[in-house]
Amino acid sequence: MTHVLIIGSGISGMACAVRCAERGLRVTLASPFPSERSQSVMAAGGINAVLPEGEPGDSVASHIEDTLKGGCDLGGERAVTGLCEHGGEILRYLERIGTVFSVDKQGRPLRRAFGGQSHKRTYYCGASTGKQIVSALVMEARRFEAAGLIERRLWCCFHSALIRDGVCHGALLFDEARGGLEAVTADAVVIATGGQNALFGKTTGSTQCDGYAAGKLFMQGAELKNLEFIQYHPTTLQTPQKRMLISEAARGEGGRLFVKENGHNVYFMEEKYGPGGNLMTRDVISREIDALGCDVFLDISFLGKDVIDQRLPEVRDLCAKYAGIDVTREPIPVQPSVHFFMGGLAVHLNHETNLRNLFAVGECASMYHGANRLGGNSLLAAIYSGHVAADEIAGRKEEAPTHPDFSGELEREKARLAESRDTQSQFPVMYLRDMLAETMQKRLGIVRDEANLTKGLEDIDYYLSIAGRLNYDASVMPYFNYSLTAILTLARATVTCALSRRESRGAHWRSDFPETDEAYRAATIIKYDGGKYSVRLDEERAYES
Ligand code: FUM
Repeated sequence: MTHVLIIGSGISGMACAVRCAERGLRVTLASPFPSERSQSVMAAGGINAVLPEGEPGDSVASHIEDTLKGGCDLGGERAVTGLCEHGGEILRYLERIGTVFSVDKQGRPLRRAFGGQSHKRTYYCGASTGKQIVSALVMEARRFEAAGLIERRLWCCFHSALIRDGVCHGALLFDEARGGLEAVTADAVVIATGGQNALFGKTTGSTQCDGYAAGKLFMQGAELKNLEFIQYHPTTLQTPQKRMLISEAARGEGGRLFVKENGHNVYFMEEKYGPGGNLMTRDVISREIDALGCDVFLDISFLGKDVIDQRLPEVRDLCAKYAGIDVTREPIPVQPSVHFFMGGLAVHLNHETNLRNLFAVGECASMYHGANRLGGNSLLAAIYSGHVAADEIAGRKEEAPTHPDFSGELEREKARLAESRDTQSQFPVMYLRDMLAETMQKRLGIVRDEANLTKGLEDIDYYLSIAGRLNYDASVMPYFNYSLTAILTLARATVTCALSRRESRGAHWRSDFPETDEAYRAATIIKYDGGKYSVRLDEERAYES
């Protein structure tokens, strides 16, 4: 029986696991934490779909058009068409497995407007869409667990892929409770580890999503794509620990952005872009806020207490809890923060990477969103990509490969880990991660230029040069120690991609190249070979075949 190893148990990993099991495949689902603690549970806004009972005049064609336009022509027409065509079916599937969407008094599902969309097509479950979907998928996974098709392994971290001659045969997993490193062979490996928040430290997401798997696989030969496209969400509340997301739902329900000027409120987005200004795409709004360089506020008070209580309870609660703000009476101070990564592991339409039998799904894979993602498309893409990968694996007719013996590799890596534990650290690994986050925030902001990016590259090269000398930090889990170099390598690849795209497009804005350049209407693909990083523009759309 085909054995699939899935790394990561958020929505994309779970959707893939359940679909594999439905197709009769045996799945090992490995993750450091339970699904209920994955970043997916933080998704508040909703999921996009075009349903027959949706907004009159809406269509799948219009969802495709909005997505491609929002992605500034880099989303990939075939990929985006597949995604949007499956929106309705995925929503029905979610309902069937127990996701409870918000409905009106007549029982019709509620929809809201989200940024960059021509119609109201974002469906939601109160303020906890991600949580509800995770719960429903966990219940499904349990059914298949009971049937012996899914094995869920917790507290288990990815270490590296087992690759021979360009084919992936499984992975080394680090599981301290089971004695450390272990080789798990599999006929297909699916990476579902989310974005790379830890590179930036304080973001709207979880630093559990650290980009390690993508960085390590890059060092092992997997190509990465479009890393320079980093989405800043325009409306977040800054707290010392974190950037709290003030969901786009607040603007979808009518919230207005403004600045104070000479005692008056200036609704700058509406002034510049008309009545739909507050729901322009995120790249546009974040850039406008950045250019203003002053305090910006979001007003939802005029919606009234009832609407806020019913439609925006999470916004109400987090403003009260973290900023002492009563949103029914006061505006919310907002700032853009890193929210989503359009770039990641380069995958073909079937979600396989350039390494045979190695797949990537969800945010760690670069697909569908081009230079800028639309709100509500990430949950859709997480589920859709999980299904696409599962169907591809299940549909393969060839004999399952025989797996080479990886015991030599396992012993070598075990020895390396033991050796690194004996190394005296100069200063804590976590401190270096903080320094990296500072560099990334400073050099890869909303607007970039060559001088800043080059400085970022120099900083990261320095961090890489000392990383080997502070391998073991007794105060943290071994995972944090062995993951450091790959995380720094991913950061270096990200800055390299940003330097190489000498134009402005979507979430990548260069003050030294402020125009969009047709010559760059292509994906940035980066490859690592023995310490060398080589970038090419994928004009032939090799990754859309
Ligand atoms: O603003 C939001 O609720 C975010 C949603 C998303 O990123 O899809």
